[in-house]
Amino acid sequence: MQTELLKADDAGFARAGEILRAGGLVGMPTETVYGLAGNALDGSVAKKIYAAKGRPSDNPLIVHIAAFSSLAKLVKAVPPAAEKLARAFWPGPLTMILPKAACIPDEVSAGLPTVAVRFPSHPAAQGVIKAAGLPLAAPSANLSGRPSPTTAQHVLHDLSGKIEAVLDGGPCGVGVESTVITLATPVPRLLRPGGITLEALRDVLGEVDMDDAVLHPLKAGVRVSSPGMKYKHYSPKANVVILDGTDAQYRAYVNAHAAPHVMALCYDGDADGLQVPALCYGNLSDERTLAHDLFDALREVDARGAETVYARCPSPEGVGLAVYNRLMRAAGFEVIHLGE
Ligand code: TXA
Ligand code: MG
Repeated sequence: MQTELLKADDAGFARAGEILRAGGLVGMPTETVYGLAGNALDGSVAKKIYAAKGRPSDNPLIVHIAAFSSLAKLVKAVPPAAEKLARAFWPGPLTMILPKAACIPDEVSAGLPTVAVRFPSHPAAQGVIKAAGLPLAAPSANLSGRPSPTTAQHVLHDLSGKIEAVLDGGPCGVGVESTVITLATPVPRLLRPGGITLEALRDVLGEVDMDDAVLHPLKAGVRVSSPGMKYKHYSPKANVVILDGTDAQYRAYVNAHAAPHVMALCYDGDADGLQVPALCYGNLSDERTLAHDLFDALREVDARGAETVYARCPSPEGVGLAVYNRLMRAAGFEVIHLGE
């Protein structure tokens, strides 16, 4: 099939809505990453989403809505914690997990008794959801295992010819996927860090646990609370290695290992004095800039044919936690501690 490229205007939203009501798939911008949207109330559409992405069908999808009032129909009950979170962070980059209502097909929740719901703030995402008149299941619009797409071009690169349309709303603002919190546990639990920080969640809810999978590789045999954390994720084809140390230690290590097809993935200002090609993905003093450019940089290292990438990674605090979580997965948790 020929993938249509739609504009983020009323005509584009209307066309996207038409495709979605007919059971088709549309790549849509959100403030986090581009999503691959389809009717969340139709299990056969969810199957098409899994097939287009090459995604294992035991990894559930997030359902997107364009009004807080739509939440009640998708879940068993809306607890006070969900109301508090919605008041503080919706619309925005936060996904809540709650026991699901009967209208959510098993294909969407991957057989789990819960459903993940998000109300995105991006005007184009809201435009598409409203035009469809449906809740939309939308995983990130990348091929499974590849870095999430932050531009319409990334989506076309991975899915052109496999989906009906992509709506181009320009580059995404946050750049990493939404924060995922489950309210289906006795104490709310952070499953995936994102633009809404753990600190901000604790300010609103008080106690919030952090799932082990946020910081550590999953141990064999342990039950996963978020199936997405199971898979090798966010990976470029190149071998990514994180170097933990000062600017000077980083430069010295990279230069000592300079060779063809070696690249540096570093902070703004680090490139001077490096003897390998460098991609600077943001400023360490503002982790939001790192989140914004990380996935584009991971795609770019492949486009440039890198085989080994030496990366700098922020400490796991604030939005830095989301960057750390994604980059550690891209590196398969391979870290070299310098100066030890
Ligand atoms: O920012 C985002 O959340 C983007 C945009 C498009 O909205 N979407 C996104 O979807 O990142 P996806 O499918 O790539 O990631 C969904 C994550 C996965 O890690 C999945 O395992 C988890 O949410 N998830 C979904 N439903 C769940 C559930 N019922 N219980 C536990 N984890 C769930
Ligand atoms: Mg994804």
